Amino acid sequence: MSNLNIQKIRNDFPILSQQVYKKPLVYFDNGATTQKPQVVIDEELKIYTHENSNIHRGVHYLSEQLTQRYEDARKVVQKFINAPHDHEVIFTSGTTESINTIAFSFGEKYIHEGDEIIISTLEHHANIVPWQMLCERKNAVLKVIPVNEKGELLVGEYEKLISTKTKIVAVNHVSNALGTVNDVKRIIEIAHQYDIPVLIDGAQSVQHGKVDVQELDCDFFVFSGHKIYGPNGIGVLYGKEKWLNQMPPFMTGGEMIKKVTFEKTTFNELPFKFEAGTPNYVAAIGLAKAIDYIQNVGLENISTYEKELLDYATQKLEAIEGLKIVGTAKEKVSVISFNLENIHHYDAGMVIDKMGIAVRTGHHCAEPLMQRFNIEGTIRASFSFYNTKEEVDKLCDAISTVKQMFG
Ligand code: ALA
Repeated sequence: MSNLNIQKIRNDFPILSQQVYKKPLVYFDNGATTQKPQVVIDEELKIYTHENSNIHRGVHYLSEQLTQRYEDARKVVQKFINAPHDHEVIFTSGTTESINTIAFSFGEKYIHEGDEIIISTLEHHANIVPWQMLCERKNAVLKVIPVNEKGELLVGEYEKLISTKTKIVAVNHVSNALGTVNDVKRIIEIAHQYDIPVLIDGAQSVQHGKVDVQELDCDFFVFSGHKIYGPNGIGVLYGKEKWLNQMPPFMTGGEMIKKVTFEKTTFNELPFKFEAGTPNYVAAIGLAKAIDYIQNVGLENISTYEKELLDYATQKLEAIEGLKIVGTAKEKVSVISFNLENIHHYDAGMVIDKMGIAVRTGHHCAEPLMQRFNIEGTIRASFSFYNTKEEVDKLCDAISTVKQMFG
């Protein structure tokens, strides 16, 4: 049993106390984005009100102060994921930009005609399309790890896909659509036996439990601020310095240079080589605040409580006739995707919304995964530690109403 005081936690999130359609908001779309605690909102307001100045550029007071706070935020992220060095932490706009940066930069240097890249069936489009486009540019080949009926990666099949042509493996830690937690440690171990680097998309994992990049030994790890109770428009690209130092810059412009002449440009050191232009320093500092917040709640507590919620909701939803859960992996985070017999997920989602409950419907930016299960999409409820069992009961009541209306 978890010992979190959920009501107290809910009071930290102002948006949760509002009503929609004259009903208390039930927010079950945390996989898409999480809500923000007041401390994060206040932090951004404080910077714009009292501290704003461009960083790394001025010698004046405000610029120096805020540069320090931005670099402190980098250290907070470094400690959070246990990266060996702070210069291995690059701030980006989010997971998508982080993956695109790696696909372009690593791809430019290391991918050649006939090379192979391995991803998985569970990937979000952000971890498919950049690799697909890279393969088109370089005449390389994309290979895909299959999943079983439960939505678990077939590690034996993965081993068969690896060859001397494999140059990188890119898989998610947790599936956004099904909630499956992948055994990424094993996936990394296998790739490293052949000296192949591995990128882990942690967009759906860092908010649910402790991640230690040194323990995983991943070569790259990426995540977004807005899915971990932080601001929008900020994300992280962690990479081992041995790779980042060799990789060319992706975006170019101000701050990523050492010296520019019209004849030649030399590049700045890590992390700045990958941070062209004015970074979103306000959001980076906001992200550090969000990380402090969840660390105060405790990632162990979050993980225990969310597991309780997942088990409770799974049991309740499974008991509903005609409801089929898609994704029944043994290891899952608090995400449940489901369909209702003979009822389109959009119709269901619209009725559920009118009850004040926010769920996501559709293919969840994972179309190939939906194709694997021969479905167009699902209704997805993704729970956070600020959700309650009473809210799960409301979802079940809403599903009964949907069934009465369309059944
Ligand atoms: N990737 C986000 C989701 O799963 C948007 O909803």
